[in-house]
Amino acid sequence: MIKPAFGVLVFAAVSLAACDNATAPAEDRAALAMKAATMLPDDADLSAKYERSCIACHVTVDSGAPIVGEQAEWQKRFQAGEKTVLSNTISGIRAMPPRGSCLDCTADDLAGLITFLSGRTISAETVAAVAAEHSGEPE
Ligand code: HEC
Repeated sequence: MIKPAFGVLVFAAVSLAACDNATAPAEDRAALAMKAATMLPDDADLSAKYERSCIACHVTVDSGAPIVGEQAEWQKRFQAGEKTVLSNTISGIRAMPPRGSCLDCTADDLAGLITFLSGRTISAETVAAVAAEHSGEPE
């Protein structure tokens, strides 16, 4: 069974590369989501928070959430700036609940989780600035 599964992943990787910035076709997103469902952050604390709060939506095509490692989708979102992405994560955006429903996640935790989801780092300055803007908000 290992060989066919590997073939599907290679196919997905090649098709994703080929379609550049466009949203990937449904079958490619499904293959990406299958792969994403097997991945966890290296850090044990972040991994626990991710499994508790983020994984259900962010490896599920029908949730409307950008999938873990879905480069074209994350690139679009980061075009608004890393500060906006982190701020939206804390406040919630459309079907995404505030703090991704991780109420004990700090801004730093969320930045680490965003790095895992998107492959992009958020600078310590941005984390500090966004945390200050959102301090004192009800959770
Ligand atoms: C209930 C489902 C759900 C959960 C749980 C969830 N998300 Fe999301 N997330 C979404 C959806 C849906 C979107 C896309 C929202 C939109 O733009 O319409 C999203 C978008 C995002 C974005 C992009 C924000 C932007 O500016 O475009 C980030 C970053 C993110 N989620 C991080 C997380 C993290 C980190 C967790 C866990 C702590 C998490 N999410 C948990 C559903 C979820």
